[in-house]
Amino acid sequence: MENKKLNTEGSNPNSSFLIPNSSFLTPNSSFLGIRELSCEYISRPWGMFGKKEVKPVLRNINLDIERGEIFGLVGESGCGKSTLGRYILGLKDYRGEILINGSKLDNKAGIKKLSLADRQKAARNVQAVFQDSGSSLNPAKTIGWILEEPLRAHGLPLVNGQGGSAAERQAKIDSTLELVGLDSSHKKRKPHELSSGQKQRAAIAFALMLDPGLIVADEPVSALDVSVAAQILNLFRELNRSLGLTLLFISHNLDLVGYLCDNVALMQNGEIIKNN
Ligand SMILES: Nc1ncnc2c1ncn2[C@@H]1O[C@H](COP(=O)(O)OP(=O)(O)O)[C@@H](O)[C@H]1O
Ligand SMILES: [Mg+2]
Repeated sequence: MENKKLNTEGSNPNSSFLIPNSSFLTPNSSFLGIRELSCEYISRPWGMFGKKEVKPVLRNINLDIERGEIFGLVGESGCGKSTLGRYILGLKDYRGEILINGSKLDNKAGIKKLSLADRQKAARNVQAVFQDSGSSLNPAKTIGWILEEPLRAHGLPLVNGQGGSAAERQAKIDSTLELVGLDSSHKKRKPHELSSGQKQRAAIAFALMLDPGLIVADEPVSALDVSVAAQILNLFRELNRSLGLTLLFISHNLDLVGYLCDNVALMQNGEIIKNN
């Protein structure tokens, strides 16, 4: 619970993107702003003489997500939701503008030009949770190892401006496990030794390790039984309340999105056709 305090009271500004600092407090500033984002997939033809096919996937997307809100992106399968999520995660070059916390997300070419510190900052500001969390957790390692890795890589938690000790990393892991409804006994287990709901909780803990400003959750409960799915939705809401977590919840299921989200955008055929 120590961790919770840190995030809400803002006593350690360097270690958390959840903490409002002065630059966050400009009126009407959205945490995520997307301006006229468009993209297409180019399919490679078979053989030498086939014509390249260019298929528009996102068309002129405009979207704002406010700090601390749970925003739902809903639409039928294949309409481009995951593609949009991947752009926000900074995994692709893009046309248009993606603003995170007021600064433009550099596209891949731009990211290479950033310093290591800025790249690390960009990388940890937005984290992801996917449908199949089992495959994103290294099956050969224990949950404790998996959760410690991002802390080691980023030199966190920061203690007096420096990377914390092993004990401080463990304290951060324990408090994050508690936040997601697991406990320190789960640290010794490997991902396949967890139930599907526990695995998704561990994936959410992994996403939280670096105190991201935004989590993109792409169909995070689609592979779960109804009752387990409901628990995970409630967990997202609890994290939103306790940490002020901003969440982009992507789903094809209008009921789920209606249940969980503060605001909803409806997507069809690569376009946002209704916002709110
Ligand atoms: N890497 C890719 N190459 C070519 N087409 C793709 C690729 N990824 C997705 N698509 C196509 O782009 C469209 C949008 O896909 P996606 O973003 O996964 O939709 P959703 O998440 O809404 O189901 C689909 O028609 C899909 O077939
Ligand atoms: Mg998808």
